[in-house]
This record gives sequence, C-alpha cells and structure tokens, in this order.
Amino acid sequence: MTIVLAIETSCDETAVAIVNNRKVLGNVVASQIEIHREFGGVVPEVASRQHLESINSCIAEALGQAGLGWDRIEAIAATCAPGLVGALFVGVSAAKTLAMVHNKPFVGVHHLEGHIYASYLSQPDLEPPFLCLLVSGGHTSLIEVRSCGDYELLGQTRDDAAGEAFDKVARLLGVGYPGGAVIDRLAKSGDPKAFPLPEGKISLPNGAGYHPYDCSFSGLKTAVLRLVQKLTAASDEPLPVADIAASFQYTVAKALTKRAVRCAQDRGLSTIVVGGGVAANSGLREMLSTTAAAAGIAVHFPPLKFCTDNAAMIACAATEHFARGDRSAFEMPVHSRMPITEVSELYAVGRD
Ligand SMILES: Nc1ncnc2c1ncn2[C@@H]1O[C@H](COP(=O)(O)OP(=O)(O)OP(=O)(O)O)[C@@H](O)[C@H]1O
Ligand SMILES: [Mg+2]
Repeated sequence: MTIVLAIETSCDETAVAIVNNRKVLGNVVASQIEIHREFGGVVPEVASRQHLESINSCIAEALGQAGLGWDRIEAIAATCAPGLVGALFVGVSAAKTLAMVHNKPFVGVHHLEGHIYASYLSQPDLEPPFLCLLVSGGHTSLIEVRSCGDYELLGQTRDDAAGEAFDKVARLLGVGYPGGAVIDRLAKSGDPKAFPLPEGKISLPNGAGYHPYDCSFSGLKTAVLRLVQKLTAASDEPLPVADIAASFQYTVAKALTKRAVRCAQDRGLSTIVVGGGVAANSGLREMLSTTAAAAGIAVHFPPLKFCTDNAAMIACAATEHFARGDRSAFEMPVHSRMPITEVSELYAVGRD
C-alpha cells in the first residue's frame, strides 16, 4: 500500500489527488477554462496567479475527500516538467513545502508520464511492456514503455499535436474552446465520409515512401479551412458543422490508429495504452479498439475524466517511481521542456 498526494499545475488546471496504488481516494480539479476562454487560449501569467489562489483549498478538499490526515500520506509528488514555468512553480513549491513540513519524501513527475500511467487507474494489473499512444494538447507521440523510466520515442507529430488540431478546427468552425469535446459531440450527428480530407504523411528521404509512425496535422487543419471557405462562398446556408466535425475526427482517428497498430506490430508489442486529452475521443476509442482487436492487440484507455490533465495520473506515475526508490531533491528546479527519455534527471538525488 502506497498513499501518494500529487499536485498538477503544469498548465490551466489546479489539480490535487490522493491515490492508494491505483485507487483514487481524493481527486480535485479546479479548471481555469472559464478564465482563459475570453482570451481564446491559456495566458501563462493569469494561470500562475490562479494556481496560487486555488492550490490550498484544492489540497484541503482532496484530503477531506480521502478522509486522511498527513500521517497517512507516504510521499508528496508534483509535476516538475514540462509546462508553463510559473504554473509548475506553484505546484512544485507547495509540494516541496508540504514534504519538508511533514517530513515526507518528494517525488517530481514528468507530466507525460502522468498521461502514460493514467490507464492504470482502471487497470489494476496493467504493466509494461506496452506501446503508449500519447495524444494530448501539446503532444502526439508513440512511446515504447519498457519499464518505468525506460522509454523510447518511436514516432511523433512533425507540427500540430492532435489536441491542438481539434482546438484549431473548433475555432475555425466557431463552435467553442477547448475544441476536442465539442467536435466529438458534433461528430456524433455527422457523416464521417461527407468530406474526404487528406491524412498528413511525412515523406522519407530519396522517395523511400512515408514515415510509418510520424504524423502531421497542420495540412489537415488547412484543408478544413479551405473546405469552410469553399462552402461559405458557394452557399448562404449554415455550415454543415456536424459533417465537417465528423469528417475531421474520422481522419485524425484513422491516422492515429494506423500508426499505433503498425508500430505495435513492428515492435512485437501486444498492448497499446492511450493517454492524453484526445484519448477521450469517441471516434478514436472506437476505431482503435476495433482495429487493434482484429490484429490481436489489447487497447486500454484511461477513465474519461482522467484523460485531460488531473493529479490522479501524476500520483500513478509517482507511485511507480516511488516503488523503485526514486526520490527528488528539494533543490530540483522546474523545467519548461524535458524529453520523456530524460526523466531520470528528476531523480538525481538517487535511490532510497
Ligand atoms: N473528446 C475529445 N476529443 C478530442 N480531443 C479532446 C477531447 N477532450 C479533450 N480533448 C483535447 O485534449 C486536449 C487537452 O488534453 P491534455 O489536458 O492532455 O493536454 P495538455 O495537458 O494541454 O497538453 P500536454 O499534456 O501535451 O502538455 C485539448 O486539446 C482538447 O481539445
Ligand atoms: Mg496534459
């Protein structure tokens, strides 16, 4: 039994969770979406200030939900990288202070490891090796997870992340921010084959075909823009937003499914674990599950509410590191960028 309190403040959610192994005892997410909505995106300064306002009450609420005192918490974790520096700093400072005051170990966590391990919250027995399809607002990657901390990046987007593409298409359709969940909802009543859209492919040098795992979404976003311009110029009728949303979502799901299944097959991996906000997408869930099952590959998605940023997934990642004896130094800085392959830097203090 390991009870971890984790804090996540890398972007625009102030989140605190208490997790006992893979069981969530307390989970609080104070979203800043409404505050940033008027700007059409996250404003870093505003985010930091808002984290500062919310952090103490979120910690108190999570402890209250769990019905635990500090004596029962074994380790305190916080997202240290990557993210908005000012935002990360609030969560990390709070976690370090609590760890010092209550004499607990501090475990820094790489945000993307949180997304990788989010599926542990619904899969008590899931263990590496597996292929992680990480599809979030800032990342779209295929990562071979050999064991906790041992990662190989096998493929990634060359431009926009999948979540970013959802957000941009939602904006150009004028349907709201953040866009992923809105497009998903609209797509349910649309025809995915209404408008054939191009799947972004990455050419290999010397005409050797296409990169099997890398992808690109900026061309797709531009194709949707052209389609919208063409439809608007041709008719005064309202835009067929449901059909456009469904066609876009279908194209993204197809691109991701094809690459993930091919990659798992090539690497001899029998399990795909999906993480990040786009893991909530119903079109991707359906297409990847069906295609992978036909290829004899198991697929796991996080519970819906743990796809987008939350602290329960950070606690899961921290628990894995804690079990290996990984501890972070109180002097450790936050990092706006850090490749997933360099997470060992967070545990430079050594092993217990
Ligand atoms: N149902 C959905 N379908 C598609 N996209 C979705 C859905 N729900 C959320 N998203 C997208 O997920 C993204 C947010 O996910 P997440 O919180 O994992 O990203 P992030 O933390 O901003 O980025 P990163 O983790 O890379 O730093 C947004 O781009 C949002 O549009
Ligand atoms: Mg995230």
